[in-house]
Amino acid sequence: MLELRNLTRAYELGGERAGVFAVSLQVPKGCLAVLAGPSGSGKTTLLQLAGLLDTPDEGEVLLDGVAVSSLPERTRCDLRLRRLGFVFQALNLVPVLSALENVMLPLQLQGVAEAEARRRAEAALDRVGLADRRHHHPGQLSGGQQQRAAIARALAPDPLLVLADEPTASLDHAHGGPLMDLMAELAQERGVTFLVASHDPSVISRAHRVFRLADGRLVEAP
Ligand SMILES: Nc1ncnc2c1ncn2[C@@H]1O[C@H](COP(=O)(O)OP(=O)(O)O)[C@@H](O)[C@H]1O
Ligand SMILES: [Mg+2]
Repeated sequence: MLELRNLTRAYELGGERAGVFAVSLQVPKGCLAVLAGPSGSGKTTLLQLAGLLDTPDEGEVLLDGVAVSSLPERTRCDLRLRRLGFVFQALNLVPVLSALENVMLPLQLQGVAEAEARRRAEAALDRVGLADRRHHHPGQLSGGQQQRAAIARALAPDPLLVLADEPTASLDHAHGGPLMDLMAELAQERGVTFLVASHDPSVISRAHRVFRLADGRLVEAP
C-alpha cells in the first residue's frame, strides 16, 4: 500500500510558484491508480516524490505504513533498487543490451546470482509475451514491445510499487490500451501497487482508481 500524506514540493520560477501542494492519497496493494491532469499539473513531480527520487518540502511518503521519504539517501537508494520499479515514457532500456540482459540488470545489481537472474528475467519476459524476443536489442523491438520489456524489468525484482510516467506517450493509440490492460492484470495477479501518470484517455479508462491534479493540487479523488 502506498500513502502520500500531505505532500508539498514547491518550485519558485521567476516569482511564480509551481510544483505540488498538500497532496494526500492512498493506493492499496494490487491497485492500478492513474494520476491524471493536463501538462504542468504536477504529475511527474508527484511520481518523483513517490519514487523517492526527490524529497518533499512537507509531508511523507509511506510504503506499507513505513515513512520512507525521510529516510537517509542510502536507505532510499536501496529501497528504490529492491522495492520500486520504474517505467518511463520512452528510452527505458539500455540500447546495447538484449531484452533479457535489460531485465536481468536490476536483479544483478541486487546481487542475485546470474543463473537465478536469468531464470527470473526469462519468466518475466514470458509473462509479458516477449519470450521469443528475449535476445533482441531494444532497437529491434517495436515501441510497444520495448514498453512491455520495461514492465518486465520493473516487475522482475518483485517490487511493492511500480511508477510509470506517461508509459503510452511514445506509442500510437492502438498500443496504449493493451499495455494498460497488461499493467492492470499484473497489478492484481502480483498484488503490486501501480501509480501511472498520464493524460491519455485510454490509460485513464483502465484505471482502478483515478486521481486528478490541476495546478499541483488534487481536485478529484475516489
Ligand atoms: N525542476 C523544476 N524546476 C522548476 N519548476 C519545475 C521543475 N519541475 C517541474 N516544475 C514545474 O512544476 C509544475 C509541475 O510540473 P510537472 O510535475 O512536470 O507536471 P506534469 O508532469 O503534470 O506535466 C510545472 O509548472 C513545472 O513547470
Ligand atoms: Mg510529466
